[in-house]
Amino acid sequence: MKQSIIITGVAGLIGSRMADWIVKHYPEYEVVGIDDLSGGYRENVVKQVTFYQMDCADGSLKEVFEKHDPLYVFHFAAYAAEGLSPFIRKFNYQSNLIATANIINECIRSQVKRLVFTSSMAVYGRGTPPFDEEDQPAPIDPYGIAKYACELDIKVAAEQHGLDWCIIRPHNVYGINQNIWDSYRNVLGIWMLQNMTGQPMTIFGDGSQKRAFSSIDDCLKPLWNAATYDGASKQIINLGSAIEYSIKDAAEILKEVMGSGELLFLEQRHEVKDAHPTWQKSIELLNFEDKTNLHTGLSIMWEWAKQLPKRDRFVWSSYELERGLYGFWKSTSLSRD
Ligand SMILES: NC(=O)c1ccc[n+]([C@@H]2O[C@H](COP(=O)([O-])OP(=O)(O)OC[C@H]3O[C@@H](n4cnc5c(N)ncnc54)[C@H](O)[C@@H]3O)[C@@H](O)[C@H]2O)c1
Repeated sequence: MKQSIIITGVAGLIGSRMADWIVKHYPEYEVVGIDDLSGGYRENVVKQVTFYQMDCADGSLKEVFEKHDPLYVFHFAAYAAEGLSPFIRKFNYQSNLIATANIINECIRSQVKRLVFTSSMAVYGRGTPPFDEEDQPAPIDPYGIAKYACELDIKVAAEQHGLDWCIIRPHNVYGINQNIWDSYRNVLGIWMLQNMTGQPMTIFGDGSQKRAFSSIDDCLKPLWNAATYDGASKQIINLGSAIEYSIKDAAEILKEVMGSGELLFLEQRHEVKDAHPTWQKSIELLNFEDKTNLHTGLSIMWEWAKQLPKRDRFVWSSYELERGLYGFWKSTSLSRD
Protein backbone atom coordinates (compact mmCIF):
# COMPACT_ATOMS: atom_id res chain seq x y z
CA MET A 1 0.00 0.00 0.00
CA LYS A 2 1.26 3.49 -0.87
CA GLN A 3 2.01 5.94 1.91
CA SER A 4 -0.15 8.98 1.63
CA ILE A 5 0.30 12.74 1.65
CA ILE A 6 -2.62 14.99 2.49
CA ILE A 7 -3.00 18.33 0.73
CA THR A 8 -5.74 20.66 1.92
CA GLY A 9 -6.92 23.36 -0.47
CA VAL A 10 -6.11 20.91 -3.27
CA ALA A 11 -8.48 22.59 -5.75
CA GLY A 12 -6.77 25.97 -5.38
CA LEU A 13 -3.63 27.39 -6.96
CA ILE A 14 -0.90 26.11 -4.65
CA GLY A 15 -2.68 22.90 -3.65
CA SER A 16 -3.57 21.72 -7.16
CA ARG A 17 -0.14 22.53 -8.55
CA MET A 18 1.55 20.82 -5.58
CA ALA A 19 -0.60 17.72 -6.19
CA ASP A 20 0.39 17.72 -9.90
CA TRP A 21 4.03 18.04 -8.92
CA ILE A 22 3.98 15.15 -6.42
CA VAL A 23 2.01 12.89 -8.79
CA LYS A 24 4.64 13.57 -11.44
CA HIS A 25 7.82 13.35 -9.33
CA TYR A 26 6.87 10.96 -6.53
CA PRO A 27 4.23 8.55 -7.89
CA GLU A 28 5.08 6.15 -5.07
CA TYR A 29 2.90 8.30 -2.78
CA GLU A 30 -0.88 8.46 -2.77
CA VAL A 31 -1.98 12.10 -2.84
CA VAL A 32 -5.14 12.68 -0.81
CA GLY A 33 -6.74 16.05 -1.45
CA ILE A 34 -9.27 17.92 0.66
CA ASP A 35 -11.15 21.01 -0.49
CA ASP A 36 -14.60 22.45 0.11
CA LEU A 37 -14.54 24.07 -3.35
CA SER A 38 -15.36 27.45 -1.84
CA GLY A 39 -12.55 29.10 -3.78
CA GLY A 40 -11.05 26.40 -5.98
CA TYR A 41 -12.31 24.25 -8.83
CA ARG A 42 -12.75 20.48 -9.04
CA GLU A 43 -11.25 20.46 -12.54
CA ASN A 44 -7.94 21.70 -11.10
CA VAL A 45 -7.53 18.35 -9.33
CA VAL A 46 -5.96 15.59 -11.42
CA LYS A 47 -7.58 12.15 -11.43
CA GLN A 48 -4.69 10.48 -9.57
CA VAL A 49 -5.67 12.42 -6.43
CA THR A 50 -8.07 10.79 -3.95
CA PHE A 51 -10.41 13.72 -3.45
CA TYR A 52 -12.69 14.64 -0.55
CA GLN A 53 -15.01 17.62 -0.81
CA MET A 54 -14.94 18.73 2.79
CA ASP A 55 -14.55 21.79 4.99
CA CYS A 56 -11.32 21.49 7.02
CA ALA A 57 -13.20 22.80 10.05
CA ASP A 58 -15.53 19.79 9.79
CA GLY A 59 -15.46 16.86 12.24
CA SER A 60 -15.26 14.29 9.45
CA LEU A 61 -11.66 15.34 8.81
CA LYS A 62 -10.75 12.79 11.49
CA GLU A 63 -12.06 9.92 9.35
CA VAL A 64 -9.92 10.96 6.39
CA PHE A 65 -6.80 11.10 8.55
CA GLU A 66 -7.60 7.74 10.16
CA LYS A 67 -8.24 6.11 6.80
CA HIS A 68 -5.13 7.43 5.04
CA ASP A 69 -2.65 7.81 7.91
CA PRO A 70 -0.61 10.54 6.13
CA LEU A 71 3.15 10.85 6.24
CA TYR A 72 3.16 14.57 5.42
CA VAL A 73 0.40 17.16 5.47
CA PHE A 74 0.43 20.33 3.38
CA HIS A 75 -2.22 22.62 4.83
CA PHE A 76 -3.04 25.22 2.18
CA ALA A 77 -6.82 25.59 2.60
CA ALA A 78 -7.82 29.16 3.47
CA TYR A 79 -9.79 32.12 2.20
CA ALA A 80 -6.95 34.50 1.51
CA ALA A 81 -8.74 37.80 0.89
CA GLU A 82 -6.58 40.01 3.06
CA GLY A 83 -8.14 43.40 2.26
CA LEU A 84 -11.68 42.03 2.65
CA SER A 85 -10.99 40.26 5.93
CA PRO A 86 -12.05 43.20 8.19
CA PHE A 87 -15.51 42.99 6.61
CA ILE A 88 -15.85 39.18 6.93
CA ARG A 89 -14.04 38.90 10.24
CA LYS A 90 -15.93 35.89 11.61
CA PHE A 91 -15.74 33.96 8.39
CA ASN A 92 -12.02 34.77 8.17
CA TYR A 93 -11.26 33.24 11.57
CA GLN A 94 -13.43 30.21 10.85
CA SER A 95 -11.76 29.56 7.50
CA ASN A 96 -8.20 30.37 8.49
CA LEU A 97 -7.88 29.71 12.23
CA ILE A 98 -10.54 27.17 13.28
CA ALA A 99 -9.85 24.99 10.24
CA THR A 100 -6.13 25.04 11.07
CA ALA A 101 -6.81 24.06 14.69
CA ASN A 102 -8.74 21.06 13.40
CA ILE A 103 -5.85 20.12 11.08
CA ILE A 104 -3.34 20.45 13.94
CA ASN A 105 -5.44 18.10 16.09
CA GLU A 106 -5.48 15.49 13.34
CA CYS A 107 -1.76 15.86 12.62
CA ILE A 108 -0.99 15.22 16.30
CA ARG A 109 -3.38 12.26 16.47
CA SER A 110 -1.95 10.67 13.31
CA GLN A 111 1.64 11.47 14.28
CA VAL A 112 2.42 12.92 10.85
CA LYS A 113 6.08 13.28 10.03
CA ARG A 114 5.73 16.99 9.28
CA LEU A 115 3.03 19.61 8.81
CA VAL A 116 3.77 22.27 6.20
CA PHE A 117 1.61 25.33 6.75
CA THR A 118 1.32 28.30 4.41
CA SER A 119 1.22 31.44 6.48
CA SER A 120 1.61 34.78 4.71
CA MET A 121 3.63 37.96 4.39
CA ALA A 122 0.53 39.55 5.93
CA VAL A 123 1.97 38.66 9.37
CA TYR A 124 4.65 41.35 8.94
CA GLY A 125 2.11 44.16 8.72
CA ARG A 126 3.72 47.59 8.46
CA GLY A 127 7.25 46.39 9.13
CA THR A 128 10.21 47.81 7.25
CA PRO A 129 10.86 45.89 4.05
CA PRO A 130 12.56 43.71 3.13
CA PHE A 131 10.65 41.62 5.67
CA ASP A 132 12.87 39.11 7.41
CA GLU A 133 11.79 35.94 9.22
CA GLU A 134 13.41 37.34 12.40
CA ASP A 135 11.19 40.45 12.37
CA GLN A 136 8.50 40.68 15.04
CA PRO A 137 5.12 40.05 13.34
CA ALA A 138 2.63 42.91 13.62
CA PRO A 139 -0.30 42.13 11.29
CA ILE A 140 -2.74 44.92 10.48
CA ASP A 141 -5.80 42.92 9.42
CA PRO A 142 -7.79 39.84 10.56
CA TYR A 143 -6.29 37.67 7.82
CA GLY A 144 -2.74 38.39 9.00
CA ILE A 145 -3.80 37.97 12.63
CA ALA A 146 -5.33 34.56 11.84
CA LYS A 147 -2.16 33.44 10.07
CA TYR A 148 0.02 34.60 12.97
CA ALA A 149 -2.25 32.84 15.47
CA CYS A 150 -1.95 29.63 13.43
CA GLU A 151 1.84 29.97 13.48
CA LEU A 152 1.85 30.35 17.26
CA ASP A 153 -0.51 27.44 17.74
CA ILE A 154 1.60 25.16 15.54
CA LYS A 155 4.69 26.02 17.61
CA VAL A 156 2.86 25.31 20.87
CA ALA A 157 1.58 22.00 19.46
CA ALA A 158 5.17 21.12 18.61
CA GLU A 159 6.39 21.88 22.13
CA GLN A 160 3.63 20.00 23.87
CA HIS A 161 2.89 17.15 21.46
CA GLY A 162 6.08 16.73 19.42
CA LEU A 163 4.54 17.86 16.12
CA ASP A 164 7.16 18.64 13.48
CA TRP A 165 6.41 21.59 11.21
CA CYS A 166 7.66 24.03 8.63
CA ILE A 167 5.91 27.37 8.20
CA ILE A 168 6.14 28.99 4.80
CA ARG A 169 5.34 32.64 4.23
CA PRO A 170 4.64 32.87 0.50
CA HIS A 171 3.89 36.14 -1.20
CA ASN A 172 1.77 37.02 -4.21
CA VAL A 173 1.99 33.64 -5.86
CA TYR A 174 0.43 33.53 -9.32
CA GLY A 175 0.11 31.14 -12.24
CA ILE A 176 -1.94 28.43 -13.87
CA ASN A 177 -4.95 27.29 -11.77
CA GLN A 178 -5.29 30.61 -9.93
CA ASN A 179 -8.86 31.74 -9.29
CA ILE A 180 -9.34 34.79 -11.52
CA TRP A 181 -13.06 35.22 -10.75
CA ASP A 182 -12.85 36.37 -7.14
CA SER A 183 -13.36 40.13 -6.96
CA TYR A 184 -11.36 40.56 -3.75
CA ARG A 185 -8.02 38.84 -4.20
CA ASN A 186 -5.22 37.89 -6.57
CA VAL A 187 -4.59 41.21 -8.27
CA LEU A 188 -2.99 39.75 -11.41
CA GLY A 189 -5.95 37.43 -11.99
CA ILE A 190 -8.42 40.27 -11.31
CA TRP A 191 -6.69 42.36 -13.97
CA MET A 192 -6.81 39.51 -16.48
CA LEU A 193 -10.55 39.01 -15.98
CA GLN A 194 -11.14 42.77 -16.17
CA ASN A 195 -9.29 42.86 -19.47
CA MET A 196 -11.22 39.87 -20.85
CA THR A 197 -14.54 41.47 -19.91
CA GLY A 198 -13.70 44.88 -21.39
CA GLN A 199 -13.23 46.62 -18.05
CA PRO A 200 -10.32 48.81 -16.91
CA MET A 201 -7.64 47.32 -14.65
CA THR A 202 -8.32 48.74 -11.19
CA ILE A 203 -5.63 49.96 -8.80
CA PHE A 204 -6.14 51.05 -5.17
CA GLY A 205 -4.63 54.49 -4.61
CA ASP A 206 -1.88 55.76 -6.91
CA GLY A 207 -0.25 52.37 -7.55
CA SER A 208 3.07 53.30 -5.96
CA GLN A 209 2.73 50.56 -3.31
CA LYS A 210 5.33 47.87 -3.87
CA ARG A 211 4.96 44.09 -3.94
CA ALA A 212 7.06 41.09 -5.01
CA PHE A 213 5.34 38.49 -7.23
CA SER A 214 6.19 34.79 -7.25
CA SER A 215 5.60 32.27 -10.01
CA ILE A 216 4.01 29.08 -8.67
CA ASP A 217 6.40 27.08 -10.88
CA ASP A 218 9.36 28.26 -8.78
CA CYS A 219 7.63 27.43 -5.45
CA LEU A 220 6.73 23.75 -5.87
CA LYS A 221 10.08 22.03 -5.31
CA PRO A 222 10.86 24.31 -2.33
CA LEU A 223 7.47 23.40 -0.81
CA TRP A 224 8.33 19.72 -1.18
CA ASN A 225 11.69 20.41 0.44
CA ALA A 226 9.86 22.14 3.29
CA ALA A 227 8.28 18.78 4.11
CA THR A 228 11.27 16.55 3.47
CA TYR A 229 14.53 18.41 4.25
CA ASP A 230 15.92 18.00 7.77
CA GLY A 231 17.07 21.62 7.77
CA ALA A 232 13.52 22.89 7.23
CA SER A 233 12.23 21.30 10.43
CA LYS A 234 10.68 23.90 12.78
CA GLN A 235 11.66 26.79 10.54
CA ILE A 236 9.71 29.80 9.33
CA ILE A 237 10.71 30.63 5.77
CA ASN A 238 9.69 33.38 3.35
CA LEU A 239 9.04 31.92 -0.08
CA GLY A 240 8.99 33.63 -3.45
CA SER A 241 10.69 36.29 -5.48
CA ALA A 242 12.31 39.19 -3.64
CA ILE A 243 12.19 41.51 -6.66
CA GLU A 244 9.72 44.27 -5.93
CA TYR A 245 7.53 46.15 -8.40
CA SER A 246 5.19 49.03 -7.86
CA ILE A 247 1.62 47.89 -8.51
CA LYS A 248 1.48 50.37 -11.38
CA ASP A 249 4.61 48.88 -12.98
CA ALA A 250 3.24 45.36 -12.55
CA ALA A 251 0.04 46.49 -14.31
CA GLU A 252 2.10 47.96 -17.16
CA ILE A 253 3.96 44.65 -17.58
CA LEU A 254 0.67 42.77 -17.72
CA LYS A 255 -0.73 45.28 -20.22
CA GLU A 256 2.25 44.55 -22.43
CA VAL A 257 1.66 40.78 -22.10
CA MET A 258 -2.07 41.12 -22.89
CA GLY A 259 -1.52 43.62 -25.67
CA SER A 260 -4.18 45.98 -24.25
CA GLY A 261 -5.60 47.44 -21.05
CA GLU A 262 -6.53 50.72 -19.37
CA LEU A 263 -5.73 51.61 -15.76
CA LEU A 264 -8.39 52.95 -13.38
CA PHE A 265 -7.23 54.38 -10.02
CA LEU A 266 -9.64 53.83 -7.11
CA GLU A 267 -9.72 55.16 -3.55
CA GLN A 268 -6.85 54.09 -1.27
CA ARG A 269 -7.64 51.10 0.96
CA HIS A 270 -6.26 50.07 4.33
CA GLU A 271 -3.15 48.16 3.28
CA VAL A 272 0.60 47.98 3.78
CA LYS A 273 2.48 50.40 1.52
CA ASP A 274 5.51 48.30 0.64
CA ALA A 275 5.76 44.56 1.21
CA HIS A 276 8.64 42.51 -0.07
CA PRO A 277 10.71 39.87 1.69
CA THR A 278 14.20 38.61 2.21
CA TRP A 279 14.82 35.27 0.52
CA GLN A 280 18.22 34.10 1.77
CA LYS A 281 16.71 31.52 4.10
CA SER A 282 14.62 29.97 1.30
CA ILE A 283 17.73 29.66 -0.85
CA GLU A 284 19.76 28.06 1.95
CA LEU A 285 17.12 25.78 3.42
CA LEU A 286 14.78 25.02 0.50
CA ASN A 287 17.00 25.50 -2.56
CA PHE A 288 14.67 28.21 -3.86
CA GLU A 289 15.60 29.63 -7.27
CA ASP A 290 13.88 32.66 -8.72
CA LYS A 291 13.84 31.40 -12.31
CA THR A 292 10.70 32.94 -13.78
CA ASN A 293 10.62 36.70 -14.30
CA LEU A 294 7.28 38.49 -14.04
CA HIS A 295 6.86 39.03 -17.79
CA THR A 296 7.48 35.34 -18.59
CA GLY A 297 5.30 34.09 -15.72
CA LEU A 298 2.45 36.38 -16.72
CA SER A 299 2.71 35.30 -20.36
CA ILE A 300 2.29 31.65 -19.30
CA MET A 301 -0.68 32.52 -17.07
CA TRP A 302 -2.33 34.74 -19.68
CA GLU A 303 -2.15 32.02 -22.38
CA TRP A 304 -3.90 29.68 -19.92
CA ALA A 305 -6.43 32.27 -18.73
CA LYS A 306 -7.60 33.00 -22.28
CA GLN A 307 -8.71 29.36 -22.65
CA LEU A 308 -10.81 29.31 -19.48
CA PRO A 309 -14.57 28.73 -19.58
CA LYS A 310 -16.79 31.71 -18.86
CA ARG A 311 -17.76 31.84 -15.19
CA ASP A 312 -19.57 34.34 -13.01
CA ARG A 313 -17.35 36.68 -11.09
CA PHE A 314 -17.52 35.88 -7.36
CA VAL A 315 -18.96 38.63 -5.18
CA TRP A 316 -20.21 38.39 -1.61
CA SER A 317 -23.99 38.82 -1.47
CA SER A 318 -23.63 40.42 1.96
CA TYR A 319 -20.79 41.33 4.30
CA GLU A 320 -20.60 40.93 8.07
CA LEU A 321 -19.82 44.63 8.38
CA GLU A 322 -20.79 47.42 5.98
CA ARG A 323 -19.37 50.24 8.06
CA GLY A 324 -16.15 51.53 6.50
CA LEU A 325 -16.56 49.37 3.39
CA TYR A 326 -14.92 50.92 0.35
CA GLY A 327 -17.17 52.21 -2.43
CA PHE A 328 -15.71 49.79 -4.95
CA TRP A 329 -16.83 46.75 -2.91
CA LYS A 330 -20.36 47.95 -2.19
CA SER A 331 -22.81 45.57 -3.84
CA THR A 332 -23.93 48.29 -6.24
CA SER A 333 -20.38 48.59 -7.63
CA LEU A 334 -19.85 44.90 -8.28
CA SER A 335 -21.48 42.65 -10.82
CA ARG A 336 -21.22 38.95 -11.45
CA ASP A 337 -20.61 39.53 -15.16
N1 LIG B 1 -1.30 32.72 -3.46
C1 LIG B 1 -0.67 33.59 -2.68
O1 LIG B 1 -0.21 34.61 -3.13
C2 LIG B 1 -0.48 33.32 -1.21
C3 LIG B 1 0.33 34.19 -0.48
C4 LIG B 1 0.49 33.96 0.88
C5 LIG B 1 -0.13 32.89 1.47
N2 LIG B 1 -0.92 32.08 0.74
C6 LIG B 1 -1.59 30.97 1.42
O2 LIG B 1 -1.37 29.77 0.68
C7 LIG B 1 -2.51 28.94 0.76
C8 LIG B 1 -2.98 28.57 -0.61
O3 LIG B 1 -3.24 29.75 -1.35
P1 LIG B 1 -3.80 29.70 -2.82
O4 LIG B 1 -3.28 30.88 -3.51
O5 LIG B 1 -3.58 28.36 -3.42
O6 LIG B 1 -5.35 29.94 -2.54
P2 LIG B 1 -6.58 29.36 -3.32
O7 LIG B 1 -7.76 30.15 -2.95
O8 LIG B 1 -6.27 29.20 -4.76
O9 LIG B 1 -6.73 27.90 -2.70
C9 LIG B 1 -7.26 27.68 -1.43
C10 LIG B 1 -8.19 26.49 -1.53
O10 LIG B 1 -8.67 26.20 -0.22
C11 LIG B 1 -10.04 25.85 -0.32
N3 LIG B 1 -10.64 26.13 0.99
C12 LIG B 1 -10.83 27.34 1.57
N4 LIG B 1 -11.33 27.18 2.80
C13 LIG B 1 -11.47 25.85 3.00
C14 LIG B 1 -11.92 25.07 4.08
N5 LIG B 1 -12.35 25.62 5.22
N6 LIG B 1 -11.91 23.71 3.94
C15 LIG B 1 -11.49 23.14 2.80
N7 LIG B 1 -11.03 23.84 1.74
C16 LIG B 1 -11.03 25.17 1.84
C17 LIG B 1 -10.59 26.69 -1.45
O11 LIG B 1 -11.74 26.10 -2.04
C18 LIG B 1 -9.40 26.72 -2.41
O12 LIG B 1 -9.48 25.70 -3.37
C19 LIG B 1 -3.53 29.72 1.60
O13 LIG B 1 -3.42 29.29 2.93
C20 LIG B 1 -3.08 31.15 1.50
O14 LIG B 1 -3.45 31.90 2.63
C21 LIG B 1 -1.11 32.27 -0.59
